[in-house]
Amino acid sequence: MDGNGRWAKKRFMPRVFGHKQGVDALVRTVKACADRGIEYLTVFAFSSENWKRPEDEVSGLMGLVLVAVSKYLTKLASEGVRIRIVGDRSAVSEKVRAAWNEAERATAHNHRITLSVAFNYGGRWDVVQACRRAIEAGLSAEQLDEARLGQFMALSHAPDPDLFIRTGGEVRISNFLLWQVAYSELYFTDCLWPEFGAAELDAALATFARRDRRFGGVKTEEAAGQAA
Ligand code: FPP
Repeated sequence: MDGNGRWAKKRFMPRVFGHKQGVDALVRTVKACADRGIEYLTVFAFSSENWKRPEDEVSGLMGLVLVAVSKYLTKLASEGVRIRIVGDRSAVSEKVRAAWNEAERATAHNHRITLSVAFNYGGRWDVVQACRRAIEAGLSAEQLDEARLGQFMALSHAPDPDLFIRTGGEVRISNFLLWQVAYSELYFTDCLWPEFGAAELDAALATFARRDRRFGGVKTEEAAGQAA
């Protein structure tokens, strides 16, 4: 969800104002995804590296979690959204942890769409924590394969993403779902996150629909032709 800071700067507003608008864009986008039958949406809200930002921005983002949960939890819960938080919760404050726990608890029964919020998350952190937990569970080197390790990843509740969208014009993954994006289609847009919504989602989906996905193999028709 990149571009909040630039969006705010263009309006001579503090960066945190951009993040606040970013929450509204997120709520809009969750609804747009659910309306289109998308069952899983994962968003990068705070990376393990975002602690390097100025203190007022970090505390602003943490405060925004509390505001967002109190403002939108009831609405999201009533719309069938299940919220899951992925990331290292040990480093966040007790208040933020409690808000996330409440968001998960209040939506645990929902099935329409699962919104995974990556918070204090990094793709490399996830691979390391999964390895650690696999070792703690007593798995031997021989027992460990991609499927087994996948069960220990923070996003084991969700299928690998079909489509990876980055807003804000940068063309990089920035330590997001490193393990899970192996065969995702990547889509980059200059749209700043606070301006993202149904129209931009539809543009991304239209591009996705034109992609030729082979997962390292050949096209289905070609494979059928070869078999005939
Ligand atoms: C990147 O834009 C965005 C973030 C680091 C934060 C994203 C967070 C939100 C949209 C709020 C979500 C909050 C909750 C409670 C889920 P940037 O600041 O790097 O923008 P810039 O590249 O224009 O500077």
